[in-house]
Formats: sequence, C-alpha cells, structure tokens
Amino acid sequence: MAILPVMTPEGSYSIVIERGLWSDFQGTCARFGLHGQQVIVTNTTLQRLYPLTQPFGLMLDGERYKTLNTVEMLYTDFAALGVDRKTRVIAFGGGVVGDTAGFAAATYLRGLPFVQVPTSLLAMVDSSVGGKVGVDLPQGKNLVGAFKQPEWVFIDPDLLQTLPPKEWRGGMAEVIKHGLLADARLLDPQIQQDPEMLISLAIAVKIAVVQRDPYEQGERAHLNLGHTFGHAIELVTGYQWTHGEAVGVGLIAAARLSELLGLCEAGLAQIVYDQIETIGLPTRITGLDPERIYAAMATDKKWLQGRSRFVLLRGIAQPIIVEEVAKSAVIEVLKDLQA
Ligand SMILES: NC(=O)c1ccc[n+]([C@@H]2O[C@H](COP(=O)([O-])OP(=O)(O)OC[C@H]3O[C@@H](n4cnc5c(N)ncnc54)[C@H](O)[C@@H]3O)[C@@H](O)[C@H]2O)c1
Ligand SMILES: [Zn+2]
Repeated sequence: MAILPVMTPEGSYSIVIERGLWSDFQGTCARFGLHGQQVIVTNTTLQRLYPLTQPFGLMLDGERYKTLNTVEMLYTDFAALGVDRKTRVIAFGGGVVGDTAGFAAATYLRGLPFVQVPTSLLAMVDSSVGGKVGVDLPQGKNLVGAFKQPEWVFIDPDLLQTLPPKEWRGGMAEVIKHGLLADARLLDPQIQQDPEMLISLAIAVKIAVVQRDPYEQGERAHLNLGHTFGHAIELVTGYQWTHGEAVGVGLIAAARLSELLGLCEAGLAQIVYDQIETIGLPTRITGLDPERIYAAMATDKKWLQGRSRFVLLRGIAQPIIVEEVAKSAVIEVLKDLQA
C-alpha cells in the first residue's frame, strides 16, 4: 500500500494506492473514516462490470457524454436520492466520469464532498489528481469547469484487469510523458510491468507539479509536453486518432524538435520513439499534412497572439518552455514523421 499526500491551497488530501480497495469499498470507507450518505457516479460500462448495490447516478459511456446535459441528469438523480450538503459524491470511472461527476459535485448545493475512484490508467495517473473538473461544449473540450479538490483518491490497481488494452496504451502515453518530464524510472521496462509501482511513480510526478502550481499559472504547462502536437493531430484526424495515440507521436515530435533546435543531446528522440513503439502506439503520421497540423497548432489557446509555444526537453527530467520556434523547424519534424 502507498499513501501519497497532496497539499493544495484549500487543504490537503491523500491518494491511497492498494489492491482490493474497491472490492471491499465499504471496508475502505470505514477504514478511512468516511461515514454518512454517499452517492456513487459511474457509467453504464462500469456498472455492468462492477454492479453497484448502493445508490448511484449513471451516465452513458463516452467523451460525447461529458456535457452539461449529463450534469443536469446527475443533478436530477441527486435530487431524487435526497442528496444534501453532507452527501459525498464518489466518482467511479475513467477521466470522463471523474471530470463530469466532479463538476456536478462542485456545483450541486454549491459543493459537496467528493472522492475519486479512478478506474482507467489515465485517470489513475493524471485526471484524478490536480482538482480540475469540468465538461465539454460543442465549441470545444473542457470549456466549462471548476477547481474541486477531492477528499480522497482511492486507486485500486485490480480494476485495471478489465481495462481494454487500447485504454491501457493511452494511459501509458501519459506515463511516458511523466517519465520524460521528471522521472526516468518510468521508462524502465521492469517498472512498466509493475502496475502499482508504475502508478505510484507516475502520480508522484503529477502531484509535484500541481502542488507547485495549483491554479495552472506556470509550471503546470509542462504537463503539455507532446500535447501541442497531439491536440493538433487529434483535430486534423477529426478525432479518429485517440488522445493517447496523438500524444504518443506528439512526444516523439517534441523530442525531435528539441534535438533539431540543439536543446538536448542527440539520441533522446530515439529513446522516446522506442518507448512509444514498445507500448504499441503509432510512431508515424503518414498521410497527415504537416501544413494542416501546423495550422491546427496555431489555434492553440496557449499560443498567445499566434506566438508559437512548445514544451521541449533539454534532456530527461529537464523540461523547458520555448517560444517563437521557427515554423520551418516544426514542419521539418512533421515531415520526418511521415516516413
Ligand atoms: N481533470 C484533469 O486534470 C484531466 C487530465 C487529463 C484528462 N482529463 C480528461 O479525462 C478524459 C479521458 O479519461 P479516460 O482516458 O479515462 O477516458 P474514459 O473515461 O472515457 O475511459 C475510457 C474507456 O475505458 C472504460 N473504462 C474505464 N475504466 C475501466 C475499467 N476498469 N474496466 C473497463 N473499462 C473501463 C470507460 O468506460 C471508457 O469506455 C478526457 O475527458 C480528458 O479531458 C482530465
Ligand atoms: Zn493528455
């Protein structure tokens, strides 16, 4: 078992990582002093795999249901279940359930106690920590949201046994990102075969970053490593590429750009390439037009007044933000990724 504390401006909470936390969730709540009324929020897929006997709010499965409409349905469930200010909302699911249930918990009755039980690798190492909750609008992803810190995050690695391999690979892209940002141990094949160790180390990277920058004013931008390229690839493929696939190749692109600009020693991009290939994620963007990808990047809200802005690497665990990178360098990297 590991217990990792997280300090936030609103107080501290803990992340518990232990096998079996979910199979005996009542016991888990008793052990950590969580008494009183609860409402679990989950989705239809998880409800089928892990049938609930306690009261729950149910949402449909998929990013397209991360909407205000779903939040409204959850409010209706909360009202029907007699939720009051002390009722604890438990999000049991991947990042979509966590973000949506968290937003409902942040807003219903101006805020209810909230607990995260992440079930996907991505939610375990990334979205359940940091306090960002919210939903998408037709105009864009995550446009409506709040900061809502959980009281606890309970991570049960046993839940990963039912996670589809594709979702595992997507989470691994973020794990590699955390490794490149701050902890080379995450790139070690032996550690990658030990889910508990992998989760603890990967989450520790995110904790360290969000503790130093709880409201996303500076360093938290480092978590965008590979994401400037990645978001653009998601966009130009009309979301045919998953987030993890796009971020994986985005990490290779960021490493190649770092090398091309002479920021890091040659060889880093090969290390990243090998990692992404081993996970089984795409390593090329054959057929995707570099100019279109560049145009999509330029719409990034982090590119202030069209000035390009990339998170790059001076080496492993040495991220750096670089502005006004020459377009020609970016295009060269994108062209290389075609072959
Ligand atoms: N709040 C944040 O800081 C933050 C950070 C990163 C990502 N996110 C958000 O997270 C979301 C992506 O999260 P995700 O990758 O977990 O996607 P997801 O929640 O859609 O889960 C992926 C799929 O796996 C299924 N699933 C999850 N756990 C399972 C399990 N144990 N067994 C079987 N199936 C399981 C889900 O039902 C779903 O079909 C996005 O909406 C993204 O914006 C938020
Ligand atoms: Zn991501």
